[in-house]
Amino acid sequence: MHPRKLVIASAFASSLIAAGLVSGNAIAAGGSDPLPHNKWSFDGIFGSFDKPQLQRGAQVYLEVCSSCHSLEMVYYRNLMDIGFDKETVKEIASEYEAKDGPDDEGEMFLRQARLSDRFVSPFDNENAARSANGGSFPPDFSVITKARKGGADYIYGLMIGYLEDAPEGFELSDGTHYNKYFPGHQIFMSAPLYDEAVEYEDGTEPTLDQHAKDVSAFLAWAASPELEERKRLGIKVILYLLVLTAMLYALKRRIWSRIYLDEYTNDSYLGEFEQDINDVKNNVKRPN
Ligand code: HEC
Repeated sequence: MHPRKLVIASAFASSLIAAGLVSGNAIAAGGSDPLPHNKWSFDGIFGSFDKPQLQRGAQVYLEVCSSCHSLEMVYYRNLMDIGFDKETVKEIASEYEAKDGPDDEGEMFLRQARLSDRFVSPFDNENAARSANGGSFPPDFSVITKARKGGADYIYGLMIGYLEDAPEGFELSDGTHYNKYFPGHQIFMSAPLYDEAVEYEDGTEPTLDQHAKDVSAFLAWAASPELEERKRLGIKVILYLLVLTAMLYALKRRIWSRIYLDEYTNDSYLGEFEQDINDVKNNVKRPN
């Protein structure tokens, strides 16, 4: 391969890898209405989380969703990363009881949760969760926006996608609710959010739409808390590669500038250096 092409190709390949660092990922689901597309603050290469929004989303999760859905991979102290101060987080944690132990008698016991605890799950295990939810399982939220196609848009859609009545001709099975964006449309979870489901302290209008956006953004953060760091690194890598490519290109031009192509014979020759090289080859000693 021509050296210039090689340099450009390898820089291009490395940029693709860097771009992979920048973008998120999603895995497929199936069969439902096309999702609404929101403009998220964390979209795009330069996007970042909107902390007040994440705080509102945390409130929605804690006050509404956490009675059924766990968030096992998140620690209470992680809430400080989205702008809550330490005292507030301690207060939030202290409202939950975490399992600890064993004590001196070998028994497990409950105590107030602390900053260093993971979010306390609403149920002890999957069977308990199923039996409290008519046999269906409210999934853990730790990576839910990565595990569902559409990510935050899907969570948002799910929250606003409930219809009072299923469309005509659609038979809902017992215990299910019609949701436009749930694959297959029949979901066991009843609509968890409505206008004023939660009272916001920062004066934001507590509409269903707002609650839905906030909790979706919060879950996107919970699944990718490293997103901003990853984007910053990706941008640095791309810049570095661009500069490196420019430097290598300049270097290549300099090195190859001594080689000329004879326009009649198509032979390359070394111009004024040819004589020097021949002298070296022939071991000619020249006077200094
Ligand atoms: C009363 C219990 C309950 C509450 C409260 C609740 N959910 Fe659910 N949720 C469920 C159950 C049960 C399922 C499983 C539904 C199914 O598989 O049909 C579920 C499923 C889900 C799913 C997964 C859907 C899928 O694609 O598999 C998401 C996302 C979800 N809930 C979001 C939320 C959010 C966000 C909140 C809070 C605003 C919330 N839920 C509150 C019970 C609940």
